[in-house]
Amino acid sequence: MDTYSVFTTKWKQLTGVDLTLYKEAQMKRRLTSLYEKKGYQSFKEFAAALEKDQALLNETLDRMTINVSEFYRNYKRWEVLETAILPLIKHSKPLKIWSAACSTGEEPYTLAMLLDQQKSLPGFQILATDIDEKALEKAKKGIYQERSLQEVPSSVKDRYFTQNANRSYEVKAEIKKNITFKKHNLLADRYEQDFDLIVCRNVFIYFTESAKEELYLKMAHSLKKNGVLFVGSTEQIFNPEKFGLAPADTFFYQKR
Ligand SMILES: C[S@@+](CC[C@H](N)C(=O)[O-])C[C@H]1O[C@@H](n2cnc3c(N)ncnc32)[C@H](O)[C@@H]1O
Repeated sequence: MDTYSVFTTKWKQLTGVDLTLYKEAQMKRRLTSLYEKKGYQSFKEFAAALEKDQALLNETLDRMTINVSEFYRNYKRWEVLETAILPLIKHSKPLKIWSAACSTGEEPYTLAMLLDQQKSLPGFQILATDIDEKALEKAKKGIYQERSLQEVPSSVKDRYFTQNANRSYEVKAEIKKNITFKKHNLLADRYEQDFDLIVCRNVFIYFTESAKEELYLKMAHSLKKNGVLFVGSTEQIFNPEKFGLAPADTFFYQKR
């Protein structure tokens, strides 16, 4: 076994996460820079250290998951969601939505703020999941610095956030109440069913081609008929029909 394989095997035992489903060169680069900084010489040595050191394990988990996010990330796509996609999935019952790999919460909160303004909607419930418990803790608190809010229209900022004394912004309870945050590993855990909309953005890029295909299939399966999958702005699906999906707009795919 080469030394990276020793590491991925140990990592799976310790965390349940299968690193062989993540793009290898990218992951190796990220982890190598961490272990070198910590003074280890090889993946094998690093794996042995992780077994004994919970703090190092947590730090490595942190390095493995890139949590960058912001409200209304790629603003234009959210406009398309509102004007072109929602009319395709509007119906009489509350919408069931999944924000998968939601990181620190900016994405599900953006969704909830956008949907709250749609007066003709019969209501909505958002399940927001990520593999990273630390990111989820921050998401549940819903407190952000101004830099995460750069794309937020001022009317939305005024309506859905309260500004705290230290210049941070907190999402109001009326928005938080629509969202359930939960730990979930996209590569290993069971998927809930019957979603009207799945938003899964800026995480497919980290996975191998075959892992990605498996996820597209499982997500398509989790959607209701006519439900929509919304992916990140570098994550176009080139053969959506293979997964029972049809392009609805750029980066949006509708289940047939
Ligand atoms: C760059 S963030 C994307 C956040 C948000 N969706 C956005 O587009 O702004 C990627 C997230 O994917 C999560 N992630 C990585 N592997 C995962 C897995 N196997 N299952 C669930 N989430 C995962 C990371 O913890 C991280 O929070």
